[in-house]
Amino acid sequence: MKNITVIGSGTMGNGIAHTFAQNGFSVSLVDISDAALQKALQTIAGNLDRQIKKGSIDEAAKTATLNNIKTYTDVKDGAADADLVVEAATENREIKLKLFKQLSEVCKPEVILASNTSSISITEIAAATANPANVIGMHFMNPVPVMKLVEVIRGYATTDVVTDTIMELSRQLGKEPVEVNDYPGFVANRILMPMINEAIYTLFEGVAGVHEIDTVMKLGMAHPMGPLQLADFIGLDVCLAILKVLHNGFGNPKYAPCPLLVNMVTAGHLGVKSGSGFYKYTAGSKDLVVAEKFA
Ligand SMILES: NC(=O)c1ccc[n+]([C@@H]2O[C@H](COP(=O)([O-])OP(=O)(O)OC[C@H]3O[C@@H](n4cnc5c(N)ncnc54)[C@H](O)[C@@H]3O)[C@@H](O)[C@H]2O)c1
Repeated sequence: MKNITVIGSGTMGNGIAHTFAQNGFSVSLVDISDAALQKALQTIAGNLDRQIKKGSIDEAAKTATLNNIKTYTDVKDGAADADLVVEAATENREIKLKLFKQLSEVCKPEVILASNTSSISITEIAAATANPANVIGMHFMNPVPVMKLVEVIRGYATTDVVTDTIMELSRQLGKEPVEVNDYPGFVANRILMPMINEAIYTLFEGVAGVHEIDTVMKLGMAHPMGPLQLADFIGLDVCLAILKVLHNGFGNPKYAPCPLLVNMVTAGHLGVKSGSGFYKYTAGSKDLVVAEKFA
């Protein structure tokens, strides 16, 4: 494995590109938006600077990492030479099915196609390609350069060889891979999202405020971040999309998204990325301030 194509240069895509490039892989980063690509390169450079400040890398490693990344706005140009594609585009079923069909047409026949999806069925994504045996889930955690876990998701047709290759590759990136099977939410989000949804219900029903709910979980359960802050960090639209997959996939009302979450997403209050969610985010501010609506 040498040539890695990362599709989507948002929150996750820039972190995945950073991690592969820092480990010596040649990375083609693809996005439909040139502005998103430019923003991703800036974010990667800023995160590398932070690593230099911490003393974990030097200037030469920063230069080498940035030199390992090329950007493209056309999937065909960016993916033709790929040994592995890691798709981290918007969490939308139609977008992903279309992308995987296109990837299986433009890539080398032996390519492995991985998705970083949080919740969409790997088996369904694989079925859109010519070779479902070579399709797998490679679910990185946010922020990718920092978080150790890769949840490796086997679709119905994924082979042992492909799974072993991705497990080994994850270790080469300094990560700890865990193999799981393809059912709604896999393991990580099947457990995390009902907790986040319950925290939102707790707020919605007036049991406690934003600060109080997060403090209980931080100080009482030793979570590094409260569930409402974590939801803001993940993106409330992403949380809602995952809960809908769990609700539809299992048909169990316990996964129904809280109406408050639905309202917030409809209003465009998506958390960190929109500047406001349960907390409000002003550029440069390190203080965690509860959003006016909940203050
Ligand atoms: N945000 C998280 O904490 C998190 C964690 C784990 C996994 N994920 C998953 O990672 C994926 C990406 O999430 P994100 O938070 O980075 O989203 P994001 O909204 O930050 O970025 C998505 C990017 O994909 C691009 N895009 C959309 N359609 C495209 C296409 N057809 N071709 C190329 N690029 C396209 C968009 O322009 C955007 O830049 C999703 O599947 C999500 O479920 C997210």
